Amino acid sequence: MLLFREKVPGDWLPKVLANLSAVLVDHAHLERKAATSALNLEKYRDLYPMVEQLNAIAIEELQHFQLVLDLLKKRDIPFGQPYPSPWIAGLMKSVRSGPRPQAIDHLICCSLIEGRSCEKFQLLAAELKTIDPELAAFYGSLVESEGNHYATYLLMAKGIDEKETSARLNYYLDLDAQLIRLPNPLPMLH
Ligand SMILES: [Fe+2]
Ligand SMILES: [Fe+2]
Repeated sequence: MLLFREKVPGDWLPKVLANLSAVLVDHAHLERKAATSALNLEKYRDLYPMVEQLNAIAIEELQHFQLVLDLLKKRDIPFGQPYPSPWIAGLMKSVRSGPRPQAIDHLICCSLIEGRSCEKFQLLAAELKTIDPELAAFYGSLVESEGNHYATYLLMAKGIDEKETSARLNYYLDLDAQLIRLPNPLPMLH
């Protein structure tokens, strides 16, 4: 179902496993940003009819945020500062201006972020099974939801303009493949 043209780099999983506390803080921010992204998409005229669907995604992301905060509390990990993601910044830098192109590009970026989260949560759920079963179950429980967000955003973009979305998706999948290969030593999900 996921369309990515480049695998998650081999050094990502060991980096994350060696820094789980920091990664959980980063994950909390990722869910917070996912909630605000869903709300930000509501500013586009083409998405006015989707406002309730976007609200539902924002609520779900806020619930994920709270679940990660609960985990942090349980593990005595303090909530802290977010790291900026060069991968997300790189995707967002290519969002064009003009209401309709911006809406389509923004939706594709959100879709790819959700898709990569879905993919990485699956990797974590499998890898953590023996190391940290509680965390493995937690990541496993998020996979379906993030996968649905990936598909929903892509469908919303296609609903605005299918041909344009295909062309931009082709562009963004190449960009993602290029950006994901850039080395990032910071303990973060993206
Ligand atoms: Fe989420
Ligand atoms: Fe999501």
